Amino acid sequence: MRIAIVGGTGTLGRLVVEEARVRGHQVRVLSRRSPEYPVDLRTGRGLADALDGVDVVVDAANDPSRRPGATLVEGTRLLLAAEVACRVRHHVAVSVVGAERLPGAYTRAKTEQELTVANSPVPWTIVRATQFHELLVAGFTALARTRLMPLPAVPLRPVAAAEVAPVVVEAAELTPRGARLAVVGPEVADLRRLAAAWREATGSRALPLTVPLPGAMGRALRAGAATGDDAADATGSADSTGSTGHEAPVVGVAAFAEWLRGVRV
Ligand SMILES: NC(=O)c1ccc[n+]([C@@H]2O[C@H](COP(=O)([O-])OP(=O)(O)OC[C@H]3O[C@@H](n4cnc5c(N)ncnc54)[C@H](OP(=O)(O)O)[C@@H]3O)[C@@H](O)[C@H]2O)c1
Repeated sequence: MRIAIVGGTGTLGRLVVEEARVRGHQVRVLSRRSPEYPVDLRTGRGLADALDGVDVVVDAANDPSRRPGATLVEGTRLLLAAEVACRVRHHVAVSVVGAERLPGAYTRAKTEQELTVANSPVPWTIVRATQFHELLVAGFTALARTRLMPLPAVPLRPVAAAEVAPVVVEAAELTPRGARLAVVGPEVADLRRLAAAWREATGSRALPLTVPLPGAMGRALRAGAATGDDAADATGSADSTGSTGHEAPVVGVAAFAEWLRGVRV
């Protein structure tokens, strides 16, 4: 297949590109700084040329800025419109487990992005994942710079991006599901335990400090919104895309501490 991977230079996108190439697909890497296919989701620049002749689009772009909707929602609209014009037959979007239950501009934009995908005429599949191990490493590294690591007691279920990439490529190879699948890590762990594993692996002397996480974010995280097993999920109610999301998740094998031992951080 000819697969265009938007955000193919990112943490996940790079691994999706590798995996798709290993499986023999013709891959195009799309991003603002891609030398091959420079595109900008915020303006639509380059999309028409980059998608010409493409069978499947994987959207692994991201925008952690204060206005994530410009890329994730408006960008998705522009991307899908270009896909319609180029007769792309499958759009695979990457999203976040529990997005609709986690407050904040980022997860609101992800939820709206999912809805935009689900309401588009392009057949689709959404692959949701829990936090990547790589994100935790970046977060802990940033926190440790101040020598004190303020950490709330909340459960996460991180997964290695390398275990999400094959699921994304498999989804791209199959018939569009019109539904979401989830990839989660092998264990639910308290953020403080994850930080302890990181400190041990890196020799960081930063001091962990348990802090409260008040408000809606604290409530949602403590209820398990980020791990995929909060009470709201257990009701089986349909989510924003109309799918119940109750297909069993794909469970990764590399727990955070083991993964840390296997990579340079
Ligand atoms: N990180 C996590 O823990 C996590 C967990 C669950 C799900 N996800 C989802 O996984 C996906 C990928 O996340 P990630 O962490 O791998 O992202 P990332 O490392 O931040 O990479 C983002 C990618 O998007 C491209 N990009 C950004 N703005 C763009 C624009 N305006 N137009 C075109 N390309 C643009 C970037 O390349 P340029 O800068 O060259 O444009 C880069 O290739 C997202 O959908 C995210 O919600 C992430």
